[in-house]
This record gives sequence, C-alpha cells and structure tokens, in this order.
Amino acid sequence: MITSARSSPSSAPLSWITPAQGKTIEAAGTTAHRLASGPGGWVERLADDVIISYKHDAARDEMAAGLNTWCQKAAWQPVRVFHRHMPVKNADRICPVLYSGDATLPLTTVVTEAGIRYGLDIGASYSHGLFLDQRVNRATLHELKPKRVLNTFAYTCSFSVVAALAGAETVSVDLSRKSLDRGKHNFTLNGLDPAGHRFLAEDTNELLPTLAARGERFDAIILDPPTFSRSKTGRRWQVEDHFENLLNAALEVAAPKCAILLSTNCTTLDQTALERRARWCAKVKRRSAEYIRHATPPDFPAGHGASTLWMMVR
Ligand SMILES: C[S@@+](CC[C@H](N)C(=O)[O-])C[C@H]1O[C@@H](n2cnc3c(N)ncnc32)[C@H](O)[C@@H]1O
Repeated sequence: MITSARSSPSSAPLSWITPAQGKTIEAAGTTAHRLASGPGGWVERLADDVIISYKHDAARDEMAAGLNTWCQKAAWQPVRVFHRHMPVKNADRICPVLYSGDATLPLTTVVTEAGIRYGLDIGASYSHGLFLDQRVNRATLHELKPKRVLNTFAYTCSFSVVAALAGAETVSVDLSRKSLDRGKHNFTLNGLDPAGHRFLAEDTNELLPTLAARGERFDAIILDPPTFSRSKTGRRWQVEDHFENLLNAALEVAAPKCAILLSTNCTTLDQTALERRARWCAKVKRRSAEYIRHATPPDFPAGHGASTLWMMVR
C-alpha cells in the first residue's frame, strides 16, 4: 500500500508562530502543534520534543537555527530534537534521527490536543500518529456531538476518539490493523473502552457498499483518504480519479442529516475543487447540502496542511 503524508506545497518563506501564539495553543490544552512551516519542511512540537522534518540540508539548517532563536524568545527548551529527512518518494522514508537530548528515553510519548490524549511514536517512518493539521476538524466533530460516526481511513482513530468522548458510537475503518490497534490505545488513554466501538481492518471502498446494504446509517462521516492507495488485492486507488466514487458510496450510508468531512492532501484538489466535486455528487445522489470552510489555525499558514471541507447534508 502506498500512502501520502501531509506535505507542504506552499512556496512561501519559512514562517514561525510567535511565542505568544504558542502559549495560546498550550493554554487550550494542546501540546502538539507546528512551530514553523516553510517550503523546505516544517517544525513540530510534540509535548517535550521537537521534530524538524526537512526536504534538503539547507532547509534543515535554516529550521535548526530558527528553532534556537524561537526557544530563546519563548524561554522554552525541548528535551529532545529529532531530524527527519523527507525524501521525494514516500517509500524511501527513514525514521527520525535524534539530534540532541537523551538517547535512552523511549520513542513513544503522549501529547494532548484540547486536553485529549494521543499516543505518538516518534520513531515511526510514515507519521508519528497524529496529523496536526486536523486540529480544527477534530474540534468541529466534537462540537457537532454526532450519535453514529463512520471514520474511514481512520489511521490511529483520532477522529473516533473525539467523537466517542462527545458520546458517539464509532466505526473506524483502516487497511492497517496496526494503526487500528494504536487507535484502541488512544481510546484507553482517554478512559474510553474500545470494546464499545468497532474497529474494522478493511478496505473502505469495499466496505461502504456492504454497510449500505445492511442499512447502516451515520450522522457524521470522515473521508480523509491518502492520495494513492493499493487494496489488499493490488487494486490501485487514486484520489483524483476516484474521489466521486468514494463520496457517492459514503452518501449511501449518510443519515438524512449528516456532516461529512472531505479532506485530501492531494495538491491538485484544493477546497474549491473539493466543493465542485461534492456538489456534483450531491446532485447525482439527490441530496442537498451546505458547504463549510474553516479558517486554518495560526500554525498552519495558507498552503500548508490538507485541503478540507465540511459537507453538511440535510
Ligand atoms: C491520510 S491517513 C488518514 C489520516 C486520518 N484521517 C487522521 O486524521 O488521523 C490514510 C490512512 O488510510 C489508510 N488506508 C489507505 N488505503 C485504504 C483503504 N483502501 N481502505 C482503508 N484504509 C486505507 C492507511 O492505512 C492510512 O492509515
């Protein structure tokens, strides 16, 4: 299976949040956020640690120097700093390398977002376990207080955790059983019993028609697929070509009122393109909907993070 990570296509110069913005984010119960974003990579704070993700050495050096200045201004020091090279091909990714700090500390850690706990693995080569650009969307799902949530391409189930904390019954779907196990761990970290929820190691595209045939309906659906994927049987899936099929299948399991999060990291699908395609699907399926675009948080300047849109079916 090939997956995409959250790249940063913007060519705007490296931009840092201010120490005051960092304090505001932390005061909201969040210890996992970006410190900087630029064309050559980004800097993330993960509780006591920092990861510099870089595309080339010059970007790494610029971000490392900027981190020193930022930490002095903020009067804050990370316990460890990791460097993570982001090669052009995702398949060539390697694990982050410890640059400073105690090498005997575990590579697993726990961060919080709005007070909700998530277990991360800093040593993982694909992603540490939490896509920080989805913070506003997780908060939105929590506020919506849905009763039945379908979280497709669930990864470590962060959306399921926030929905369950708001009282929902959740179904998390991912091809990777290992990711779903990490999702169950995130449930327990927050005092939730995973046994009260469903975790399905299946192909979303194959499962949606089965759920529809069984008459299962959801009042919130998360659709955040990778740019490319290959099914267990080797079938190739590409978001640009198959997005409408995915959304049409999701609309078959949408309750009469349903909030659907559309999210992609594919650089050719911005919010406008997502909305155009979603409007087409709504027409095909004879559903009416409103489309809501949220402003990005200060640690994700324009052009960084996934393109996302809420389709509020009614
Ligand atoms: C972009 S991540 C999703 C991130 C997640 N929404 C979050 O915010 O944490 C993509 C996930 O989709 C899973 N995946 C890829 N193809 C899939 C498929 N056909 N069916 C189900 N899961 C799939 C991958 O294993 C990976 O965990």
